[in-house]
Amino acid sequence: MNRDLRSFLKDVREAGPDYYVEVQIELSTNLEPCILQQKLARQNRFPVIYCPQMKGSKLPLVTNVYGSYEMLGMILGLPPGSAKEQILKEYMKRIANPLPLKTVPRETAPVKEVVLRDEAVDLGLLPVVHHALQDSGKYIVVGCMIARDPDTGIPNVGMYRHEVKGHNVLGAMINPAHHGSYIARRYKELNKPMEVVLFVGHHPAVVLGSLVRGSLDLDELEAIGGLLGEPLEVTDAETVDLPVPAWAEVVIEGVIDPQKEITDGPFAEYTGYYGGVAKAWQIDVKAITMRKDAIYHDLDPAHREHNLSCVLCFESVIYEAVKKAVPTVQAVHLPASSCSLYTVYISLKKRIQGEGKLAALAALSAEINLKTAVVVDDDIDVYNEHEVLWAVATRVEADLDVSIIPRVTGAHLDPSAYDETRYKRGHMTSKVIVDATKPIDLPFATRITPSLELWASMKLDDYINLPSVPPGYEEL
Ligand SMILES: Cc1cc2nc3c(=O)[nH]c(=O)nc-3n(C[C@H](O)[C@H](O)[C@H](O)COP(=O)(O)O)c2cc1C
Repeated sequence: MNRDLRSFLKDVREAGPDYYVEVQIELSTNLEPCILQQKLARQNRFPVIYCPQMKGSKLPLVTNVYGSYEMLGMILGLPPGSAKEQILKEYMKRIANPLPLKTVPRETAPVKEVVLRDEAVDLGLLPVVHHALQDSGKYIVVGCMIARDPDTGIPNVGMYRHEVKGHNVLGAMINPAHHGSYIARRYKELNKPMEVVLFVGHHPAVVLGSLVRGSLDLDELEAIGGLLGEPLEVTDAETVDLPVPAWAEVVIEGVIDPQKEITDGPFAEYTGYYGGVAKAWQIDVKAITMRKDAIYHDLDPAHREHNLSCVLCFESVIYEAVKKAVPTVQAVHLPASSCSLYTVYISLKKRIQGEGKLAALAALSAEINLKTAVVVDDDIDVYNEHEVLWAVATRVEADLDVSIIPRVTGAHLDPSAYDETRYKRGHMTSKVIVDATKPIDLPFATRITPSLELWASMKLDDYINLPSVPPGYEEL
């Protein structure tokens, strides 16, 4: 038996209303779960939101599973309130230890409790959400797609968005740089159909595993086992030659004819802006299997939850790269204010001149989406944006400490990215290094810090009555 979405929901329910809430009334799949999530965020609340009644579907819906950095720790089995550094360390430890798959008979796989094939296939049974006003339609967002590399036979997993185009047709928008696209293009060259499996709803650590950035020959199902902390249990699919996670809530099996094209978008992107219409692959759905009381997992793609679901993956890649260049790196953080992707804050115990810029160069070349790397000394808490900006304000002189590298490959969804003419939108951005570290061989002003003795001995509660701060509180 694997830990699954239900075991996670039980854990967060037991942790209390700061971590889990249930909606009392029926919700429409048209925008409503997203509005609730956004309103809670305005109040600095980021609980998992369980919606038992969804109009037009028998399936309940769960969203905001990745609502806070603290929740990422709980997904990895850490107690509520764990430090962010500890959460990143736990992620890196698990990702370094992939576990082999465990195959189980289909009779014992809960995802086979309901099997719909051929005429019975109907995507309309699922409470698929229309997330933002100008979206082109309803999108499955947490659809983790498994496909086999036709050359090596190794399965690949990635989370891509899938617009519902008909009762048995889905789109698949795969970024051309992602492995999923590489595999689809190979099938196109070979003129062969590409079999796929999407699973929707599993333990959130499994879903995080589908975002791992490894090489193409990494078996990402094994990486998922590492993150889950136990081998992923799989069984055979009904209509395609691919493994299916046995403890998933819903599985959609299908085939992509790589010669066919379909459109995707407009769509509300993680940047907070709408993206335009683009080409996508078409999935012809052959079967849907699910649990008899399946739960549908959704995520608001234009909400910070989207960015947080990727943050540990990106931070770990950047941390490893910076560590190779500057072994005394202390912490790396992608703040929510930069879509948890475009700006990185790095702290160092600086040992030699120039190490601030060296660390920034390593970070910028490790993750193409990054635009700005801000490097600070180890007295600055990278998780506290106020402190980082104070260091920038007081330790940076722009002509010496800021460097701009124009025309570098960047995030294709960044609305300010440009092409080679500079006048059109494209794949390039200008990268910025901000070295906010102090010089080490020159005198520099002494930072004011409180008396350590009084700081330790004076307890606020002994002096003033204050309302408590909700757990999970994070500065937006
Ligand atoms: C909520 C969410 C939605 C995503 N949607 C897409 C998408 O529509 N297309 C895409 O190419 N990547 C998307 N991604 C990113 C990929 O899932 C991720 O980069 C993954 O590692 C790609 O896998 P691959 O390189 O094996 O194809 C999304 C990530 C998240 C967290």
